[in-house]
Amino acid sequence: MSDKIFIFDTTLRDGEQVPGCQLNTVEKIEVAKSLEELGVDIIEAGFPVSSPGDFNSVVEISKAVTWPTICALTRAVPNDIKVAAEALQYARHKRIHTGIGTSDSHIKYKFNSTREEIIERAVAAVAYAKKFVEDVQFYAEDAGRTDNEYLARVVEAVIKAGATVINIPDTTGYCLPGEFGAKIKYLVEHVDGIHKVVISTHCHNDLGMATANTVSGLINGARQAEVTINGIGERAGNTALEEVVMTLRSHRELALDTNINATRISSISRQVSSLMNMPVQPNKAIVGRNAFAHSSGIHQDGVLKNRESYEIIDPKDVGIDENSIVLTARSGRAALKHRMHVLGVELEKEALDKAYEAFLKLADRKKEITDDDVLMLAGEHRTNHRIKVEYLQVTSGVGIKSVASVGLNIAGERFEACATGNGPVDAAISAIKIIIRRQMLVKEFLIQAINKGSNDVGKVHMTVEHDGRQYYGFSANTDIVAASAEAFVDAINKFVV
Ligand code: KIV
Ligand code: ZN
Repeated sequence: MSDKIFIFDTTLRDGEQVPGCQLNTVEKIEVAKSLEELGVDIIEAGFPVSSPGDFNSVVEISKAVTWPTICALTRAVPNDIKVAAEALQYARHKRIHTGIGTSDSHIKYKFNSTREEIIERAVAAVAYAKKFVEDVQFYAEDAGRTDNEYLARVVEAVIKAGATVINIPDTTGYCLPGEFGAKIKYLVEHVDGIHKVVISTHCHNDLGMATANTVSGLINGARQAEVTINGIGERAGNTALEEVVMTLRSHRELALDTNINATRISSISRQVSSLMNMPVQPNKAIVGRNAFAHSSGIHQDGVLKNRESYEIIDPKDVGIDENSIVLTARSGRAALKHRMHVLGVELEKEALDKAYEAFLKLADRKKEITDDDVLMLAGEHRTNHRIKVEYLQVTSGVGIKSVASVGLNIAGERFEACATGNGPVDAAISAIKIIIRRQMLVKEFLIQAINKGSNDVGKVHMTVEHDGRQYYGFSANTDIVAASAEAFVDAINKFVV
């Protein structure tokens, strides 16, 4: 009989802190529902005091989700805690996650404080949170670099104040697996009352050891793992949910398991990657495009004779169905709807109709429509922009100046302009600027191919500066110049109202 490991997903809080990955409330609800289907135990839905948008997302996710506990982050500050409790009012199961930095460096430079004062602030925060909810999780930020003896004193004090879960973050991703495991073991052996609470791991991946540290923590007594889908998160990211879950499933001898329905892993990975415009690296464990691809002759031969020769996980166990229906120009609306459903996307009738129209146009240009294409189509028809690119014509080549004519539809009215430029993208952007007439500067411009082949879809990510602030734009199109113009207009839609 395995011990249960609670899965605490922080994709919508720590994962969403990545610049350019912000989701709106509707998108967050979609991800939260997929997390519920996946079987996570706790969803960290946001940091309510940080912005009205985050507050609202916690409220709406609380209403939309039934089974998982909804958790809200706070600093050890009374107003943060009060606001978090308000945001959680509709959650069926609720948790406040409060805490403070405990490493000497945090105490000295971040708080200009002392070890004793930090313990007092930690205890006061937990006691205050207890006035609003029964389930209070405490985090000792930078616990990875906090000395074990002092960490044990902090943890003992907050347990006495009523904490139900103790989170031990390796905030900077500094620890070695043996060191992190030993830290958890030290707490298990030296803290009074530790057996009344759940110990949690929260490992960052700065040295590429987040999963190893998490698993080491679990082996040494932690019973909750804090993770994100695809390991997204600031800098090198957080611990990847799929890696922890499949490590435990692959190593039965550890006698540790989760409630995760692993067959949903592949679809939620794609959903999060698509909504956050954050491509998954092809060789990423479990969810990368190449994770189960055997290209060398020796490997292919071995796998054909017996899959287990080179695979420790059956791809079907994580929801990769090699026989899934291939969508082509002859596929009907129902097939597209079904594929979207499998990928965790549900569109209203009108959005589905538009997505289907765009699907047919794309399928005419490409032989096969991949899951990435489907997610891209779903994303495009979810947004309702005021400004749209109606047409774009560009002349470019060697030895001539590029010229672009653009037609924009702004709230139903057509505006047109022409411009020249250093290249086709520059010409298109200059023409759009003539129509919009605002000070705008393209700060970042990234083009990525989704798959392979010259007929494939390219994705464009763009950061545009306006009035001292940066706005993010995205588009995908088989025409890379059109994708660039659309990404520019996507960013403009975020500040022109
Ligand atoms: O990495 C970290 O320390 C955190 C805490 C706020 C839990 O994200
Ligand atoms: Zn973190």
